Amino acid sequence: MKKVLALSLALAMSLSLAACGGDSSSAASGSGSGSASGSVASDGAQKVGIAMPTQSLERWNRDGSYLDEQFKAAGYETIVTYSDNDTNRQVSDIQNMIAEGVDLLVVAAIDGEALNTVMNEAGEAGIPIIAYDRLIMNDNVSYYVSFDNYTVGTLQGQYIVEALDLENQAGPFNIEFTAGDPADNNAPYFFNGAVDQLQPYIDEGKLVVVSGQTEFDAVATAAWESQTAMERAQNILASYYADGTQLDAWLCSNDSTSLGVTQAIQSDYAGANKADIVITGQDGDVANLKNIKDGLQSMTVYKAVANEAVVTLDLAKAILNGDTIDDTLITNSAWDFECTYDTESYATSEGHNCPSFLLVPDVVTADNMQEKLVDTGYYTVGDDGYLVVPESNS
Ligand code: GAL
Repeated sequence: MKKVLALSLALAMSLSLAACGGDSSSAASGSGSGSASGSVASDGAQKVGIAMPTQSLERWNRDGSYLDEQFKAAGYETIVTYSDNDTNRQVSDIQNMIAEGVDLLVVAAIDGEALNTVMNEAGEAGIPIIAYDRLIMNDNVSYYVSFDNYTVGTLQGQYIVEALDLENQAGPFNIEFTAGDPADNNAPYFFNGAVDQLQPYIDEGKLVVVSGQTEFDAVATAAWESQTAMERAQNILASYYADGTQLDAWLCSNDSTSLGVTQAIQSDYAGANKADIVITGQDGDVANLKNIKDGLQSMTVYKAVANEAVVTLDLAKAILNGDTIDDTLITNSAWDFECTYDTESYATSEGHNCPSFLLVPDVVTADNMQEKLVDTGYYTVGDDGYLVVPESNS
């Protein structure tokens, strides 16, 4: 309950203070009185453009609605777009926001390298930009809010190490890898974080990647599509496991790819140990939580996107207020979740580090799902016993 209480408290504070012209964040004071350029709507509210990548991957629907809800509750006007994983569309969606006179942009990029023109346009218009969850490779980006992406991978890798008890078992165990979208700056972080945990066992011969496909480029999944991940997994199973070779684990960088791989294993894997194959994921998508409960997927790395939205809102307020931004945003906040201020790890171009606020991801399994996701209020239990996203955030 703790996190949700903090969230409600933050929202309630924003509401009451915004109503009297003030602001909840100790780092900011007053929506509508910001120093950034942009038009102030007729009712005095500042406008925030929130550009999400797509509605076809579950988590972005949750992000979009949390951000929208929280910015509105704090007294801002919002424009929220989802660009159907189409970069050109995201460019024109953001251009429309600029034309609408937004005071600040929150952008989760489809392709971190493809927003240069529109980011320059925003920069020329003096509009501050928060890169949300995925870094954008353009120096007009003012700040980055995300989870510690490398740690997401570390948690997945460690889970496999422990589940197969690689420290004590002789093996060898067979494993395959599925990574994310090469256009997404996060994807290599997830993959490297995981592989760094597994590599010592691969070197030792305890873990064997039977397909031999170990490089990021070979295992990446365009647009994080479940279908693409499923087809590649089917090919691997047909080419390397059809003779009864045992598969022990499949590293998947997130839930949409995990869904595809799990489906391929359910339909095409010939071995007898189907129920014991260790499969990782990330996000806590509803379909995957069902698979975890049913024993088809082993774990997911959960990222509390409600908290990511809280950090984004407080940062936006501080930016619009012209405050100095540093780790005092964290120390002065009422957040009761962990977040670090990092000026070293992410760069929008060589030599141009992007100050980042990084939240901490967590492992969810069938055993702790109730405690981590239901007791905290992030999900409720539906009539069929499976987890669902509460109405207001779906
Ligand atoms: C990543 C994000 C992950 C996952 C993936 C696919 O950028 O950090 O949480 O959702 O995109 O949407």
